[in-house]
Order: sequence, then structure tokens, then C-alpha cells
Amino acid sequence: MTHDAPSSTPLENLLTEDRHFPPSPEFAAQANAHGDLGAWAAADPESFWADQARELLTWQTPFTEVLDWSGAPHARWFADGRLNACHNAVDRHVEAGHGDRVALSFEGEPGDTSTLTYAELQQQVSRAANALVALGVRTGDRVAIYLPMIPEAVVAMLACARIGAVHSVVFGGFSAEALRSRVEDAEAVLVITADGGYRRGAASALKPAVDEALDPHHHPHGHLDEEAGPTSVRNVLVVRRTGQDVAWVEGRDVWWHEALEAASEQHEPVWVEAEHPLFILYTSGTTGKPKGIFHTTGGYLTQSAFTHLNVFDLKPETDVYWCTADVGWVTGHTYVVYGPLVNGATQVIYEGTPDTPHKGRWWEIVEKYGVTILYTAPTAIRTCMKWGEEIPGQFDLSSLRVLGSVGEPINPEAWMWYRRVIGGDRTPVVDTWWQTETGATMISPLPGVTATKPGSAQTPMPGISIDVVDEEAKSVPNGSGGYLVVTQPWPSMLRGIWGDEQRFKDTYWSRFPGLYFAGDGAKRDADGDIWLLGRVDDVMNVSGHRLSTTEIESALVSHPMVAEAAVVGASDETTGQAVVAFVILRAEYTDRVDGPGEGADVATTLRAHVTREIGPIAKPRSILVVTELPKTRSGKIMRRLLRDVAEHRPVGDVTTLADSTVMDLIASGLDKPTEP
Ligand code: PRX
Repeated sequence: MTHDAPSSTPLENLLTEDRHFPPSPEFAAQANAHGDLGAWAAADPESFWADQARELLTWQTPFTEVLDWSGAPHARWFADGRLNACHNAVDRHVEAGHGDRVALSFEGEPGDTSTLTYAELQQQVSRAANALVALGVRTGDRVAIYLPMIPEAVVAMLACARIGAVHSVVFGGFSAEALRSRVEDAEAVLVITADGGYRRGAASALKPAVDEALDPHHHPHGHLDEEAGPTSVRNVLVVRRTGQDVAWVEGRDVWWHEALEAASEQHEPVWVEAEHPLFILYTSGTTGKPKGIFHTTGGYLTQSAFTHLNVFDLKPETDVYWCTADVGWVTGHTYVVYGPLVNGATQVIYEGTPDTPHKGRWWEIVEKYGVTILYTAPTAIRTCMKWGEEIPGQFDLSSLRVLGSVGEPINPEAWMWYRRVIGGDRTPVVDTWWQTETGATMISPLPGVTATKPGSAQTPMPGISIDVVDEEAKSVPNGSGGYLVVTQPWPSMLRGIWGDEQRFKDTYWSRFPGLYFAGDGAKRDADGDIWLLGRVDDVMNVSGHRLSTTEIESALVSHPMVAEAAVVGASDETTGQAVVAFVILRAEYTDRVDGPGEGADVATTLRAHVTREIGPIAKPRSILVVTELPKTRSGKIMRRLLRDVAEHRPVGDVTTLADSTVMDLIASGLDKPTEP
């Protein structure tokens, strides 16, 4: 594996940022976090985390061991303790007398609403847990969840946790093919899905993708491999959301509402060891095959709860929290399900898109529910900036008191807009850096403590050791850039890649022995604050969604028309990066397009193909048909040069190219419009 040096980005020029927003005295006075937290944690991180684990979680059997790092890079936290994640997220709040507190306020895209109090949530998860057991799901089994953003998604995850089954949530925007590969890799015994969900003003179907993923033979028009055999899935549990017709496989398919009605609302949680796996979540890496990142229970919950409480300054009795992420991503796991519910928060979840039926929908929701804490991605903020500040200006956003950002670098302009237009020039903005692998936030300002700085994630969380290092793993001085690493184990760290020990070691622990390599470039500014500069590997970040260049290239070359493909992430004003593909067609197809450039039909066909193979999120913005790709003498595609082309820059140094005329050829084909 090779890594490009951290590339120069516009953010680098902003390292002299001198705007600071110190916390107001009123905010600081009531804040959960306080200034000496960091020093306390740094002095003895293990006892700091042990205190958090005892204070924030309820243990059925208290732990006596804190960290065992003797099997590095596999950490064991709180290993002799026992607990249950669902009990921590639900039951104990009811037992503490908070059963009437609203846990979830659901807003469907068509405008339907529902609420679940903690007591109602306990009944639902208990019924669902009993239903899973009745279907033969046992502790340690894997369950795939493929649902829209509806309350049942949260209930399904918690029901798995309640019986010690390992959930693997697959984002509803992924294709049948992507679902199948995840189901197979995790050897799931059950899929929980819905007939469909509402998106952009219409009901869109989900169940057909499950049917196709599980049984390609019954789908002669499907694209899945005819040879594909049966999977390990025995049953499909189907939530009725849209009421659309669904094909039914007798003996396999079961309605969620019928199974829950038949089940008792009494269920004793299964107490598991702290290191019992809680979930697997697939994410893109540098090779074609997604990685099943897996997390365990005690350490993950500790850091999720701690960060949620302190980064958002949560007051469970009074705050209304809204994280706009889908449960299909790690943000939805940690900051919709586990962090907020373990902390007993009241939260809003919303099914649909921000512009349905109008561009003020999000702000209408903030006003309607009195949202106090909002957590979203820079892409969404930039999209709202584009729509104009008159739109949020029509709503009362004065309830907001903390704003968070996650998923990609936030440019200072978007940060300032977020604070001014959405936060009324009043709210702290916290830019949180973390990853599927880190499980919970690792770098973020603490509201009430840190003087925030537009565009910078600033400081490691208390108890977290971060460094920025050069090629030789040496710490860089302030004012310099390098690779972001984590130098000490942390409670919510990934425990591995499901079924692929070697890949776990190679990906994260081999670049700098003993240090966790995050794959991100970073800089320290003159004050020592950390700025994230984007990925240094072949991973792209499109609208905060993580995509692999190799995975999309594999999807493209799996089409009979394509001989070779190279994919790059070109910078994009709104989405951060956009997928741009360069393809060489097979000889028998080249006659059909008139020379290099984008043959409209070719691009349409290939875009549809990528959508089928992976999902609409991976669909290239532009597809350029070329006759050559720039390669080094050893045959490695020089994506750096393709990025220059895709970003309309003069092409950089071509001296290492095997054939230096290639770039002229490619550039000459670019006169045609490349946007769809
Ligand atoms: O490149 C970083 C970027 O998102 C990557 C992790 O993606 P994923 O595992 O899908 O998790 C996203 C949500 C936590 C990181 O390697 N990233 C995430 N947050 C930030 C960020 N880049 C800059 N600033 C952030 N705040």
C-alpha cells in the first residue's frame, strides 16, 4: 500500500486564522465540561476512563480491570465487567423514574409524526427482542438491518443489543449487490427491512433489493451472479412503512408488526462481557472490498456517552437534540442511538431530505420541536448556504444553543455561516473529527471551555492522545503538516476487521509501528490547534460519505464495455469531493463513441451500472472516456494527474509517466461538457 503525501489544500492557507470565539461567561458557567478535564485525563488516562465508565454506565457486574493492551493492537477495556447496551440506553432510565421522558420524536418525510417515551421504547425493544429470539436469533448471531430512518431502525438495533446479537446496519441507499456482500461477509441469519421509505416526496421500495440480494435466481432480470448460492439468512423481518405491495417468500418473510404483537413486552436483557461484539459496520477502504469494522460493548458505550455529554453539553432534562445522520452510518450509531440514549436524551429523528417538500424543512423541524443541539455535516451546511439565508431566516431558531459538524473538513466560510445564520451569532460550533474505526469523537473543541476557531477541530478529547507526524513517525512542530495518528489505545477503538485480522494490522498498524494510522492528513497551527486536511489514501469523501476509489473502479470494470477505469475525488464546492471517473472502453465499443470525451450514452449506462453495483451515492458525477490513462513505469495509475484534470488545473509534474503524451491526449478530450 502506498500513500500520497498530504496534499496541499486551500485549508492550509488558512492556518493563520485569528478569529476566536471564546465561550460566553453564561455558557461557561453552566457547561458540563470544565477546563481541568484535559489535564486530569492526561495525568492518568486509564483511571479517567474507568471513572467515566463507572459514572456514565450501569454495570451488572462491575469491572476490576481497566485496560489490557498486552495483545496490541487488540485492546480490551473493562474486560471482566458485564453489562447490556440496551439496558443502559433504555431500561435504567425507566427504572430511575424517567419513563415518561420522550426518547424519540419521529418526523416522517410526508409529515406523519410519532413519539416514543423511554417506557414505550422499553416495551418496543422488549417485544422486538422476544420476536428475534422466537425467530431463533441467538447471542452472538449477526443480524443485518436495512431500513429507512424510522423509529423501528433504532428499536431493531437496540433489540439486537438486548439479546447480545451483533447488528450490521446497511445504509438503505446501498444496492442489492452491496447488501448481499455485507450479509455474506457477516454470515447474518436475519435481515430486518421495510417495504420502503419516503424520500424526495415519493415512496421508494426497499424489500425488492433484499429479495434480490438473498435469492438472485428468482430475479432473472436482476444483475446478480446467477451462480450466487443461498445465504445464511433464514428469515426476513419486514416493517410496514409505506404500505406498497411486496413480494412475499412464505416461510422466510415475517411482518415486523405481527411478530411484535405476538411477543411479550417482558424481556430480561442478556448480560454480556464488556468485550462482547456490539456491531459491525462496513466502511470503504483502499481496496475494492468494504471492511467490516467491529466494535464491542463497554469501551464503545463509555466513550460514546462521555463525548456526547461533553461535546454537546447535553442536559438530558431540558435539551432537544437532533443529529441529522442516518443510522446507516457510524454517526447514526454513536450519536443517534447509543450516545444520546445512554445519556437519557430527548431527540428528534427525521426520515427524509432537507428540501422536501420545501427548502426550509430542517428549520421548520428545529422550530417545531424546539431543537437545542443540532449535529450535521458540512455538505448540508454548504447546501443551505447556496439556497440562501432568507430560508432559515423565516423560522425561529432561537432554541439552538450548540451546533456540531462532522464527516469532512468544514471550511471557515461555512463554519462562520453556520454560527451566524443558524446559531444567531451566539452558539458554540464544535467541529468533531472521528471515524467509523474510532467509534466516537476524538478531536473537538469543548463548548464552554475552548475558544472556538472557524475550520479547526482543535483539541484532542480528554483522555485521547493524538499526534501529527512526518514520514518517520516524528512529531511535527506547530505550523507544520503530516499524518494524523493516535498514540494510545482508546475505549471506543475498533476491535478489528470482521474476519480479516491481517487487513486490520496492515491498514492501521503497519504504516507507523505502534501508532494508529488514521489515513488523514493534518496540520498543527501556531497555537497547536489541529486542522484536518482530508484523506491521504485512496478514500474519497463525498457529502460526508466515505467511498473507495478502488471499489468504484472495480464496479466500472465489471461492466462489459469497460477495459480500464480510474476514479478520483475532485474537489467540489458543495459536496466536498465529487466522483470523477476516467474509463477506457473495450475495442468493440470504442466505435460507438465519437472520439475521446464523454459519450452521453456511455456515461448514462455506466452511471446506472455503478448505482446497481454499489448505490446511488457512488455514482460518478462525470465519466470521461479516454484512450489512455497516466501510469508510472511500474504501472501504477497516477491519480494526482487525473485530479489536476478533473479540477481544471494545469497538469503537474509528468516526468514519472511511462508515456508523457498521455496527459495531452486526455486534456484534448475535455472540451466537451462533462457534467450530466
Ligand atoms: O477523512 C476523515 C473524515 O471522515 C473520515 C471518516 O469517515 P467515516 O468513517 O465515514 O466517519 C464519518 C463520521 C465520523 C475521516 O477519516 N472526517 C470525519 N470528520 C471530520 C473529517 N474530516 C475533517 N473534519 C472532520 N470533523
